[in-house]
Amino acid sequence: MTIKTSPSILACNFLELEKEMKRAEAAGATMLHCDVMDGVYVPNMSFGFSIIESISTITDLPLDVHMMTVCPQNYLKELKKAGASIVTVHCDIMPEFQLAATLREIKALGMKAAVSVKPKEPAEKVFPFVELCDMILVMTVEPGFGGQKFMADMMPKVRAIRDYCNIHKPEMDIQVDGGIGEGTVAQAAEAGANVFVVGTASFRAPDMKEALDNITKKAADAFVK
Ligand code: DX5
Ligand code: ZN
Repeated sequence: MTIKTSPSILACNFLELEKEMKRAEAAGATMLHCDVMDGVYVPNMSFGFSIIESISTITDLPLDVHMMTVCPQNYLKELKKAGASIVTVHCDIMPEFQLAATLREIKALGMKAAVSVKPKEPAEKVFPFVELCDMILVMTVEPGFGGQKFMADMMPKVRAIRDYCNIHKPEMDIQVDGGIGEGTVAQAAEAGANVFVVGTASFRAPDMKEALDNITKKAADAFVK
């Protein structure tokens, strides 16, 4: 499976957004992770469509948009217009039938669809959506803030989801988000994750390229499908 990195722009220097995006490109990032927070679904606020749209005008990297807002289904057309390539929606935000419809709509708009589970939710929560999505995000911190400590106890959940996907959708991308860096990536890759959101450990590393290269190599060496 391809190992992918998705630097979280939450950790970048917003005074130099264009330079920062170019730095991520030059460091070999696969895509850019955009954390949209509304202060309601999570106890923090970040940025919205205008920032995503501005970024899309200065990079060809796919924009991986992690929606931490209530009613994400209301913003899909705006996200498409802003240049999103992947839209991730949390499992606990709406009933199953509505989440299924939301994932279908994301795909109908020509974007990739992903579902996410928070630390307290079990692996089984995502199983009904495997057919409908291109990626599953397992949170390895409580969503809301960058720079938190990686929760190693999420690894059995990553493994359970990878094992399920090996049977039902072997090409599934499994993403982990929160506390990923050179010291934690191998555990997540061994559990079956192949897409790594990296905030603090990428933009705030002394050398972003070296950090992403090391993370990618450690993940490739440890990955177990
Ligand atoms: C947390 C966000 C993350 C965050 C990761 O709610 O979803 O994407 O930016 O940051 P680090 O890698 O610093 O934990
Ligand atoms: Zn995120």
